[in-house]
Amino acid sequence: MAPQREHWASRFGFVLAAAGSAIGLGNLWRFPYKCGEYGGGAFLAAYLVSVAILGLPVLIAEIIIGRSAQKNPVGAFRELRASRFWPLVGWLGILAGFIILSYYSVVGGWILHYIASTVLSGFQAGLAAGQFHELMSSPARQIGCHGLFMLLTIFIVRGGISSGIERWNKLLMPALFLILIGLTIRSLISPGAGHALRFLLQPDFSQLTRTGILEALGSAFFSLSLGMGAMLTYGSYLDKNTNISSAALEISALDTCFSVMAGLMIFPIVFSCGLDPGAGPGLLFVTLPEVFAQMPGGRMCGFFFFVLVAFAAITSAISLLEVVVSFFIDELCWTRRRADYTLGAVIFVCGIPSALSFNLWSGLTLMGGKNIFDLLDGFASNILLPLGGLGIAIFAGWVLTHGEKEAEIKRVENAFHFYDIWHILIKYITPVALVIVLLYTTGIIGLLSKYF
Ligand code: PFF
Repeated sequence: MAPQREHWASRFGFVLAAAGSAIGLGNLWRFPYKCGEYGGGAFLAAYLVSVAILGLPVLIAEIIIGRSAQKNPVGAFRELRASRFWPLVGWLGILAGFIILSYYSVVGGWILHYIASTVLSGFQAGLAAGQFHELMSSPARQIGCHGLFMLLTIFIVRGGISSGIERWNKLLMPALFLILIGLTIRSLISPGAGHALRFLLQPDFSQLTRTGILEALGSAFFSLSLGMGAMLTYGSYLDKNTNISSAALEISALDTCFSVMAGLMIFPIVFSCGLDPGAGPGLLFVTLPEVFAQMPGGRMCGFFFFVLVAFAAITSAISLLEVVVSFFIDELCWTRRRADYTLGAVIFVCGIPSALSFNLWSGLTLMGGKNIFDLLDGFASNILLPLGGLGIAIFAGWVLTHGEKEAEIKRVENAFHFYDIWHILIKYITPVALVIVLLYTTGIIGLLSKYF
């Protein structure tokens, strides 16, 4: 007989764990640099709209599917509909979890390395770019740090749902909040604060290109951990009494607040030092250390900042590993321990090519000069996640009956008609938006526009 499914010990624990999955490098690394590249406030506005029309509806759909089936992504679709097609959406999720964690852990490793650097030597003005380059070009350091990050992730997932994932999130998430608030206040009293607030809160829509809008949609999706069954898996450990719509609102509000606060923390110090907010992916690893090297108390701020990023990355990485682990536990009857160690080790090995793509294999480029790391990131976040999200939206909007959905999310006749609005979004608006995203990211629209 299959062992009883584990559950979250409390609603609060579930909300924190789901917010922990959502809040990660997507908020603290990807959001600020994309925001800097695509015009600040205008990008933020597009991001907020994306969360509302795409993120929140899919988040609710994933939790509904997970809770009603009480299974991993593949098993959940199989449980709810006897069809060969729908479990494929779950398989896509498992594949995406595998790929994302393999390179996410490499970036997690860089963060651990930065924490060690702040403790051992601090940042030296003018040397940040060189230090980053040194880390990038050392295969041994890259692989070692990636391995350490994976070990931490494996350690937490081994504890299971309530005494592993929930317990650690309850510890790390409040700490994350406190550090972020402290650093944001520190940053808002710096001389660049006015400039940064204008940059973020006065949108200049002429800066927002079509690519910027697509990036905002993609970033919102990645940031909320959607499209690969992470929220579905977390929802499958949820008891029947929790109100899904309010929990989902809280999770997306927390995630969005974090992105906005990350912007409010990073841009004032960037502007104070006269640096470029559109520095790209290097914003976190080159621009900020440069800032920390120049400001009074910078070593301490830098230390807390990278600890913050590490906490955020780990609480996301555990949800990625949990998706894959839950599949092996449910479908192949593996013990949690065996699934955790084996899959963690396999994902570590699969991450090695990403770690090498900045040094030994940097010459190995494919499809438009992208290295392995960029290729995997592009494939997972621009194609697999929107595709998975599309499957989830169609399944929730068109395949599940009203009765099935209402058993999970009550149709409360309040002033907002929450259920009805969600239903229209998930049935019509979200799938159309996701198809447009996919047509762009796969290059189909570009190809068509050449001929028409
Ligand atoms: N939401 C995470 C972040 O913002 O860093 C990344 C992520 C975690 C994506 C889990 C997808 C996922 F399933």
